Amino acid sequence: MKETELKKLLSEMTLEEKIGQLLQVAGTLYGENGLVTGDLDYFKITGEELDRAGSVLSISGAAKLKKIQDYCMGKQPHRIPQIFMLDIINGYETIYPVPLGQGATFEPEMAEKLAEMAAKEGSAAGVHVTFSPMVDLVRDARWGRVMESTGEDPYLNGEMGAAMVRGYQGQSVLDKGRMAACVKHFAGYGGAEAGRDYDTVELSERTLRDDYLPAYKRAIDEGVKLVMTSFNTLNRVPSTANSWLMKDVLREEMGFEGVLISDYGAVKELVNHGIAKDEAQAGELAIKAGVDIEMMSLSYIRHMEEQLKQGVITMEMIDASVWNVLCLKNDLGLFENPYKDASEEDEKELLLCPEHRALAREAAVKSFCLLKNEENILPFEGQEGEKIAFIGPFATSHEVFGSWSFPSDPAKMVSIKEGMEGSNKNASMTFAKGCQMFGHDFKLKDGRWFRYDASLKEPLLEEALRAAKDADKVVLCIGEHQQMTGEAASRTRLQIPEEQMELLRKVWEVNQNIVTIVFAGRPLELMEVSGWSKAVMMAWFPGCETGNAIADVLFGAKEPGGRLPMSFPYVVAQEPCYYNRFRSGRPNNGTLEQGFVMGYIDQIDKMLYPFGFGLGYTTFAYSPVSLSAQELTGEQPIIAKVTVTNTGHREGTETVQMYICDLFGSVVRPNRQLKGFTKVTLQPGESKEVSFTVTEEMFRFLNIRMDYVSEPGDCKVFIGPDSTTGNGADFVLK
Ligand code: GLC
Repeated sequence: MKETELKKLLSEMTLEEKIGQLLQVAGTLYGENGLVTGDLDYFKITGEELDRAGSVLSISGAAKLKKIQDYCMGKQPHRIPQIFMLDIINGYETIYPVPLGQGATFEPEMAEKLAEMAAKEGSAAGVHVTFSPMVDLVRDARWGRVMESTGEDPYLNGEMGAAMVRGYQGQSVLDKGRMAACVKHFAGYGGAEAGRDYDTVELSERTLRDDYLPAYKRAIDEGVKLVMTSFNTLNRVPSTANSWLMKDVLREEMGFEGVLISDYGAVKELVNHGIAKDEAQAGELAIKAGVDIEMMSLSYIRHMEEQLKQGVITMEMIDASVWNVLCLKNDLGLFENPYKDASEEDEKELLLCPEHRALAREAAVKSFCLLKNEENILPFEGQEGEKIAFIGPFATSHEVFGSWSFPSDPAKMVSIKEGMEGSNKNASMTFAKGCQMFGHDFKLKDGRWFRYDASLKEPLLEEALRAAKDADKVVLCIGEHQQMTGEAASRTRLQIPEEQMELLRKVWEVNQNIVTIVFAGRPLELMEVSGWSKAVMMAWFPGCETGNAIADVLFGAKEPGGRLPMSFPYVVAQEPCYYNRFRSGRPNNGTLEQGFVMGYIDQIDKMLYPFGFGLGYTTFAYSPVSLSAQELTGEQPIIAKVTVTNTGHREGTETVQMYICDLFGSVVRPNRQLKGFTKVTLQPGESKEVSFTVTEEMFRFLNIRMDYVSEPGDCKVFIGPDSTTGNGADFVLK
């Protein structure tokens, strides 16, 4: 529709219609089975109100959404079409690695391809908007939602988030197979105190702007169509009512012009926060902060008319938000084609098609982080006579797709057992569950109960120990249940359930050739796991091709390609952890034998496995860093070069990382900051020159006067395999 026609439509709409466009309701309310991603009990909406709602979340399926669209448009006086939104976080039906695993790939190009695939599948199922990417900076593994982020680095998050926006939206969201993206959760949600979900976030403006906001800005600069408010307070003001954050920063400074949608019930929760005395005031604060759509609460639809009469809010506020919603629907072409790409035929052809499965499999392989490989126990030969026992709850589980994925049939997720059996390897392989997921009853977040059965303990263990005794090698498949991660899944302990750790210890007693594969949506405490294992690999939650991807890496068809997107501490008490910390006045050198220095008396203050770390199946050597100049200016960048050599015996891919260090500043500066990464694949003995352009812009920060500038002085650049090693070179920023 032309803008003039859209403006005419806005002018003809009744106030009731306008306010209805600002309400988003869950699709289950239309009598169709959809997801429930939040509390529904409180939501007592009337039929009349439901018929006015302008958008729907958490439901999908071409036939279903066409039916709901027809019903809803029939109720709309101007037949304004619905817009359907869904959490497509790591795939629609073809499920690929959770975002933290995607972060581990250090491949924005891969993230873009995955998002494009998800958009094709989701749009065929009638979905118009995905509530992705989540680019919240995360530094505390106790927070369950680290699983949904791409990690602890602002630069990596920005690159991955921008890539996902490109993948979902393409050149135009009007195009077939594309959908609008929604960057979230604005802002600072990942800074929740002690990793407690929904808890307070206190950030200095410098930390907020230097560390937490850049990734959102990258997504907005990439043209993301929606932004979602975060549940948390930011310095004691809930984001959903935070006019400074939403108007001054998001709209004015960042130039965002799209739709601002609240998180689920976040408007009404302003009452719980204690800054709104009732839901009416909650709505007033939200609309004044510029929140366009109220997701799953009724402040707008129940109180706006009265507030308008009282002069508490203005027609301009309402029109501004309705205009944003109408523009989004128009960008998607919904006025001309309310079904957009919904197509049962395309669903049949696209969902879990071989090409999509192949991409998910490639992504999974590239997400796996090999953290230890003693005696090069990996890769296995896979030859006749080699006997391998796969033991653990994850050896046969299909629940390997993460807690924000909802495949229609989990049985279509390839388990480890199914992957091995399909790998046509000649090794003889046995499979034993070994133990139950937990050693006690456990209520899963999705409402299911895991019921522990004590009578199973012994028989499961005996079966596993028989298999281990009879095998040359054991692959332990253990980890946290996927429902222990994601929203409302903060943990005070970062351990694998004790029932599974007991299994690991017992297996070790009969066979020390253990390769442990860890499933998790966060960094876990892996010191003991590492002690009992010759190899340890983080698998995260790999998705529908789990078993095939693990077979690829175990038998060496591929090498695990991941590098850690988050730091792994020795113990949870070290959290929050992040590599780009500050030296302090008493820096420690990573040992305990020290006096008055930063750190602990009972724990080495370093990471078990640092940000950026990961092994492959070969080794690499790095030459010293050479610089094109010794001085860096705004006009004259420096080219930093290294030569990387494959010093091993098989082809391998190295993720070469470039970090800068500003040695001095008017405020303290991080030890290191990631500013570049690239992958290089080399044959045995082959060398390749890898170069990075270091710019003055990379050194800009908020200085003592809160000016965003770089400051002259001594600097270093490091190029290497992770955030703690690599060769450095000095230069001066003029
Ligand atoms: C949830 C999440 C948000 C999600 C939304 C819709 O509470 O916080 O990430 O997109 O509700 O399901």
